[in-house]
Amino acid sequence: MPGQCVIGLQWGDEAKGKLVDLLTEGKDLVVRYQGGANAGHTVVIGDDVYKLHHIPSGIINEGVLNLISPGVVINPPTILKEIEMLAERGIDVAARMKISQRAHVVMPWHVLEDKMWNELVSGQDNIGTTLRGIGPCYADKIGRSFAVRMGDLIQPDFAERVARIVAVKTKILSAASGSAPELDADAIVEEFSAYAKKLAPMITDTNQIVLDAVDADKNILFEGAQGSLLDIDHGTFPFVTSSNSSGLGISTGSGVPGNWLSKIIGVTKSYATRVGGGPFPTEQDNDTGQHIRDLGNEYGTTTGRPRRCGWWDAVAARYTARLGGVTSIALTMLDVLSELEEIQVCVAYELNGERITHFPGQVNDLRNVKPIYETIPGWQTDVTGARSLDDLPTKSLQFARKIETLIGRPIEFISVGPDRAQTIHIPENESLENYLKAKSV
Ligand code: IMP
Repeated sequence: MPGQCVIGLQWGDEAKGKLVDLLTEGKDLVVRYQGGANAGHTVVIGDDVYKLHHIPSGIINEGVLNLISPGVVINPPTILKEIEMLAERGIDVAARMKISQRAHVVMPWHVLEDKMWNELVSGQDNIGTTLRGIGPCYADKIGRSFAVRMGDLIQPDFAERVARIVAVKTKILSAASGSAPELDADAIVEEFSAYAKKLAPMITDTNQIVLDAVDADKNILFEGAQGSLLDIDHGTFPFVTSSNSSGLGISTGSGVPGNWLSKIIGVTKSYATRVGGGPFPTEQDNDTGQHIRDLGNEYGTTTGRPRRCGWWDAVAARYTARLGGVTSIALTMLDVLSELEEIQVCVAYELNGERITHFPGQVNDLRNVKPIYETIPGWQTDVTGARSLDDLPTKSLQFARKIETLIGRPIEFISVGPDRAQTIHIPENESLENYLKAKSV
């Protein structure tokens, strides 16, 4: 079964884009299945840096068809900008990408609603969204009556649909804010019809493409956006995104049968980060956190916001690896910890005086847990030049081994920098455990 997937095991920004780009070789299809322009995926190839929000990270590789499938929400001006950026760099996106007619469109009222709902909720209840209209767009998808899908943009009743929705949204937004929003149905129809004209050659039924690829035993790579802890059903609700960003969203978002997936790679940083509001048990709001932020360049690709930084959390990562059916791990950003004398790893939580190793489902419990740490000695050696396990200091390998033991899944990739080349692959017939045993450590 040749279906593979890359998912994030934390709160997003785990460096999944780099891995997807690496794994794209030999694939027939690369499929994005959830999220929207809230995502930020960076692919670095030598001196070339590609920052992508919408377009699958497989786009840089020739000969691969990239799909944006039904579970994604699309912001047409953002995707068009990305298409232009890639065209300037010699990549003909139209020849390499298809967009599902079923994918929902982020409309101007969604962005207004996102801003307004954020302003209306303050303090510790504020989600701190990316303000890209993601939540309101998914809300309308579930509500159905006021939704717009990519296929609708090129239907004869598009203008009628927009006029009907704008009338209702104007009432809702006026009531919430006390003043009428700037929503001009005719102008929106004109603007979005122009986008649709440009995107029309790419809009199709991607379900057919996926199902035909399954029948033909083709190699498909699924690219997760955000991280599993931001999953709408299984994450740290309400401080989550509005899609199924754990491994459970692959089938619903893309239309691939669940039993087609043979390999799910869970990506985790060597520490933890989160953007926006919500509990973060291992957060280091101190010099250590700032050190990690500076060395890891932990600022949002989409919003530029400084990311909250903290220690690696086994309780969270083990939960999301189990939830997503993860078969192997990619450990990223190992280089960021290189200067530290000691590294903390959270192995359990204390909740109401009790030691727990399960991830709490209630946000207030998660707010109240105290992390229980184990201290690991740092390696204090630059690892950015490492290209094989032999090049890595033993202490960094012992740290990696600790992580795979705590998650209960083998590490397959170790990333020591943003470039494609800065990746160490441990093939299936080898393992970190055996490597360390052979070295007698
Ligand atoms: P939304 O997806 O814009 O609604 O934001 C909801 C929450 O998910 C906020 O805390 C965001 O910061 C977070 N979030 C959304 N997309 C990403 C991402 O790609 N990386 C990290 N956090 C994200």
